[in-house]
Amino acid sequence: MPLVAFVSPKGGVGKTTLAANVAAVLAARGHEVVGLDLDPQNALRLHLGVPIDHDDGFLAQLGQERPWREGLRQTRANVALLPHGYTEPHAALALTRLLLEQPEVLANQVKDMLAAPQRVVVVDAPPGPSPALSAVLPLADVICVVLLSDSGSASFIPSIVTGRFLGRGTLAARSALKAMLVLNQVELGAPLSDAVLDFAQQAMGDRPVSVVARDPAVAEALADRRLPVEGAGPGADDLVLLAERIEGLLALAAPPDRDKPRPAFSALASWGHRR
Ligand SMILES: Nc1ncnc2c1ncn2[C@@H]1O[C@H](COP(=O)(O)OP(=O)(O)OP(=O)(O)O)[C@@H](O)[C@H]1O
Ligand SMILES: [Mg+2]
Repeated sequence: MPLVAFVSPKGGVGKTTLAANVAAVLAARGHEVVGLDLDPQNALRLHLGVPIDHDDGFLAQLGQERPWREGLRQTRANVALLPHGYTEPHAALALTRLLLEQPEVLANQVKDMLAAPQRVVVVDAPPGPSPALSAVLPLADVICVVLLSDSGSASFIPSIVTGRFLGRGTLAARSALKAMLVLNQVELGAPLSDAVLDFAQQAMGDRPVSVVARDPAVAEALADRRLPVEGAGPGADDLVLLAERIEGLLALAAPPDRDKPRPAFSALASWGHRR
């Protein structure tokens, strides 16, 4: 049922690394996990052990309206993966147009994924705004915004608090309430890392802030076709803690009064059934 999206206004901050490892930890903890790659870089599959010559993908073939289940690839980490797939430039433009003009083509498939109460969908997004992310964001329970603990990243924190980085208006501001911030590649005791962490905690207020240590073992794991969480070290520890935090937030994400009867508002009921 719940969906967590790894997003960032910046590139190269660790979205894919965090998405892959959180998905793997949630799967290892017994959840049914679908990994959904919205990024044309098509990199989530590499973290999850899919061979590099596997080019098929869910997003790349979205226009064909194949049911999402047909695009699933089982992975070693027990995450059922929907890779983005390879798109040549012309097809990438056509996909962008499709997502801009008919976002529901993607949103409806994701809603169908979320129909199973026990299923968790973990989304890896491209850096910055994208039509694919805009189609999926309204369905997110937790928006995990990843930044580095440097000054370039810190400059984005105010726009995460207000939701401006997600777009303009009330809907973006409402989505921002679901944001948690992850500072990646933190070096504890380094003055800049500490200062950015203090600033982030102050700015985010009640919203969660997590950290992942800078750890060469995290980068080396991918070169060895392993997930960092399969090994040991500060990076692996923090990634497991992050997954546990997200697991808790997703459980809390369901409104406490979800099962309470709601007023029917007769006019809305009949408007909803008009053709
Ligand atoms: N905690 C960490 N410690 C050390 N290296 C890290 C850590 N997290 C990520 N990296 C490395 O940083 C690089 C960027 O990571 P990743 O590809 O996950 O970022 P991204 O935000 O998904 O990038 P893009 O915007 O291109 O999609 C990779 O080489 C990865 O191995
Ligand atoms: Mg990425």
